Amino acid sequence: MPDFYFVTSNRGKYEEVRLIFEERGLELGLIEESYPEIQSESLRDIARFSAKYCAEKFNRDVLVEDSGLFIRALRGFPGPYSSYILKTISLEGILKLMEGVKDRSAYFQACVGFCSPGKEPEIFSGYVEGRISEEIRGEGGFGYDPIFLYGDRTFAEMSKEEKNKVSHRRKAFESFLNSRNTSSKGRII
Ligand code: IMP
Repeated sequence: MPDFYFVTSNRGKYEEVRLIFEERGLELGLIEESYPEIQSESLRDIARFSAKYCAEKFNRDVLVEDSGLFIRALRGFPGPYSSYILKTISLEGILKLMEGVKDRSAYFQACVGFCSPGKEPEIFSGYVEGRISEEIRGEGGFGYDPIFLYGDRTFAEMSKEEKNKVSHRRKAFESFLNSRNTSSKGRII
């Protein structure tokens, strides 16, 4: 039986998080479902609502994660609307908005929500700094990875393992795992 369950309809996300848990000897189960997301400018609030909703719906301890890309020159856009913007204007649309823009700094933020049925959610966050590339580069990853430069490569040009060492998701889930007192072998002590 898995040690924890992660609710997501995004296989790319699940695969990244599964590897983080595996490093600690923990098994991560997948509940491959989508769930309603509240509209909010705060990823924390979105993760809080989703974690509570899923804990009650599936009647078990669950993990959810909400993330977004924040571009400084666009005052944090697309931020909490990252998913919708990717579906509508896509990566090309973002690059167009960034044409001729000097400050290309951006960051990904991830908020993890953990909740047990009948309890209040706990939230853990992580972020990673980077820059928006001039063009789409790389075959790996998902979402905004092909336009997010970490050093001189995009996340989509890095292996899953390389991205996983530095990502916003890694930091948020690591903070969750540290709060759980997992031993080096991974079992909860
Ligand atoms: P959500 O957290 O699933 O709502 O994701 C928000 C949006 O950000 C989606 O379009 C994802 O594809 C994108 N996103 C989240 N994390 C990453 C990442 O690690 N790399 C690239 N895009 C991401």
